[in-house]
Amino acid sequence: MANTSDSLSVLKSLTPLGTVTTSAASSLLTVKSSKAISCKKSSLATAQLIRRYHTLNKELSKCLARIESSKANDNSSSHGHSQNYSQQDTAADLARITEIRQEMDDLGGLDMYQKASTLGQSKQRGGDSSKWLVPILESHYLQLNKKPGLPLRLLDIGALSPYNYQKYSSWIQTTPIDLNPQDPLIAKMDFLEMPIPTDREHLFDVVCLSLVINFVGDPKQRGEILRRSTYFLMPGTGILYLVLPLPCIQNSRYMDHGLLVEMMQALGYTSLLKYHFARKLAYYAFKLDAAVAAPKNKHKAHRSSENVAHPLFPKKLRHDKPNRNK
Ligand SMILES: C[S@@+](CC[C@H](N)C(=O)[O-])C[C@H]1O[C@@H](n2cnc3c(N)ncnc32)[C@H](O)[C@@H]1O
Repeated sequence: MANTSDSLSVLKSLTPLGTVTTSAASSLLTVKSSKAISCKKSSLATAQLIRRYHTLNKELSKCLARIESSKANDNSSSHGHSQNYSQQDTAADLARITEIRQEMDDLGGLDMYQKASTLGQSKQRGGDSSKWLVPILESHYLQLNKKPGLPLRLLDIGALSPYNYQKYSSWIQTTPIDLNPQDPLIAKMDFLEMPIPTDREHLFDVVCLSLVINFVGDPKQRGEILRRSTYFLMPGTGILYLVLPLPCIQNSRYMDHGLLVEMMQALGYTSLLKYHFARKLAYYAFKLDAAVAAPKNKHKAHRSSENVAHPLFPKKLRHDKPNRNK
């Protein structure tokens, strides 16, 4: 842990542009290190912070889900707590939730996580993920553009920067949103609460979910975000751009490329236009089937904590190997 906190202190001293902001960390950087060492340190710190934040976020969602599902059970039966989840379990989960939130705050919260992710996006580490998408949009431009003369409408969910598509602004108009915007040009918005377009004019040609699904700790919310994306896209032509860390696809016990494609098909993403596995990330471009329509009861199609009694894709072991992620 000593290493982690040392690295974190270096990270905390850096803005996304690499400017030192605290004197303690400044001396750490200037006294100890050449540019190369500080870069290596901040890169290590970035990766450690992101990893730890994800782990905490996932654990937090699990604790919250257990409490929610026990409440739901209590409401539906008169027997009080189920035998599997006692009052002590609730107390233990509540205590753990407090600890997790404290540790997340100590790390700097979502804001620090986003700054670390922005560092991860910076040019020397490969840039943002718009690079992979743009050639696909170019090659599908004629099918995508139903309104000649107007730019494509792109919804960037979980955008760290509003400038990812700036170079292409003559033909791509971006709507960047985030829970905690890092720039005034990004709208503060929870996609799970974003009003569903009621007419074709407000639908999008492209929805981007780059490194967002893996950020969300609760599997039900992950599914809900993917399902909801279909209500924002132009049926028949709309493209969902999904980016995931490669281990989510290649090193999970429960998920792989085949299952992801099946799940996406079930949502209406029946054509996989293109995919690519890079060193660290998996890139997917799916096209939305023409038959997909928004739900009748739009108000139900938002953040859902309801229990799914019969999930279409129950959690099932697919790769029983000890070195795979759980
Ligand atoms: C790893 S960062 C994304 C990075 C960026 N898109 C990229 O490709 O590097 C994940 C972002 O998703 C945002 N996010 C997560 N759930 C969201 C939601 N329901 N609505 C809007 N933004 C969300 C988080 O606030 C966070 O900034």
